[in-house]
Parts: sequence; structure tokens; C-alpha cells
Amino acid sequence: FQPKVLAGQRVLVTAGPTFEALDPIRGITNHSSGKMGFAIARAAREAGAEVTLIAGPVHQTTPRGVRRVDVLSAQGMLESTLGNAQDATVFVATAAVADWRPASHSEQKIKKDGSGQPPVLHFVENPDILATVAKTPRAQSGALFCVGFAAESENLVAHASAKRERKGIPLLVGNIGPLTFGQDHNSLLLVDSDGVRELPRATKLALARQLVAEIAARLPARRPP
Ligand code: C5P
Repeated sequence: FQPKVLAGQRVLVTAGPTFEALDPIRGITNHSSGKMGFAIARAAREAGAEVTLIAGPVHQTTPRGVRRVDVLSAQGMLESTLGNAQDATVFVATAAVADWRPASHSEQKIKKDGSGQPPVLHFVENPDILATVAKTPRAQSGALFCVGFAAESENLVAHASAKRERKGIPLLVGNIGPLTFGQDHNSLLLVDSDGVRELPRATKLALARQLVAEIAARLPARRPP
């Protein structure tokens, strides 16, 4: 039994990798499985929220009662996120958004040209979806509570605290320890303005439920109807 700590809230979650096309056949992506984001969407729904899940290309089952929007690229994810953020009250960014995309997209398959020289690829930086949402007036006023994730290979506390400040968000969640792509277990570090708190190793679903409770406790108290 889950207490309905998010009843009346509208929660928006991004999950999975993005795929940045190079030509009709190829592109760059990463190993994000989307498991943590899908677990958070499920836990938020169990806690009574209306949930929209914006998913990159993943192989995960949509949690019951969750509205899912599939996207491919970072630009597509940004567009869908900004549209859905307009009436959300909580935004949890778990997506592993590609930092760069090819500067140009070839309409036809890029072919070997027989010279033995590989093609030179140029990249441009993708938009930072979380930082963009965190700058919107609703996020700035506290009407939209933004949560970010960080995967670091060293100095997690220092990097996570710096990332929280840089992105301008109230809560940042660090993935502790070895990269957890595709794994069912994880442990998390919660960083907010009060300091740091660890959620010890557990399944991603158990952690998602704890995180949902932590988010609910940080939301501005709602006026009685
Ligand atoms: O800067 P870094 O990629 O480490 O930040 C991770 C956090 O920012 C995650 O919450 C991720 O979903 C979000 N992010 C984003 N758009 C990007 C890059 C990261 O929303 N382009």
C-alpha cells in the first residue's frame, strides 16, 4: 500500500537515452535503459499523481495509468517537455540526453567514397532540457518543482552539489557507485539546500518510491480546497 502523497499533483518525467541521427541508418546514442525513470513514473502514479512520461528509445513497459510520449532526439524531447511542463507541478529529469548531435543530418546513407579516408563528423551541442525548464517562470516561482539526476565517476558529493547550483534546481539526485545502466539495483544521494542524504542500495522501484516521498515532503503546502 502506497500513501497518496502526490494526489492532485501533475508529474512529468523524462527517461531513457536520446538518439541523434547521422543519416537514415545511423546515429549516436547511449546505454541508458530508462529503468529509473520508468520506476519513478510508476511510483508517482501509485502515489496518486497524474503522470506524463517522455521516453527516448527504450524497451520498457509503460507503467499502468501513465501517459507516455515517445521521442527520439534531444530536440524532440525538449519540445515535448516544454509543452507538457506548462501545467506540471513536478518535473523529474532522468533522461540521459546526448550532449551533442551531428551538425548536419544526411538524407541519404553516408557511403564510403573509396579514398580510404573516413568521413569527418561535426557536432553541435544539444539544449539542456532540465536547465531550460528550471529557468521558466513557473519553476522559478516554485509552482513547478524540478529534480535532476547526476551520474558521476568521482567526487559525487562535490559534483552533485555544483550541478544542483548550476542547473538552478532545488533537488539533485546522484547515482552512487558503479554505472548502473540496465541494473535493477542502485543507491542514491539526495542533495538539496539542507545538505546531503543517502538512500541505501535497493531496487530501483523501492528507491523511486522513497524518492517520491522525499519530493512530496518538499512541495509547497497546498491550500485546502
Ligand atoms: O549535465 P548532466 O548531463 O550531467 O546533467 C544531468 C541532469 O540533467 C539529468 O537530470 C538529465 O536528465 C538532465 N539533462 C537534460 N538535458 C541535457 C543534459 C542533461 O535534461 N541536455
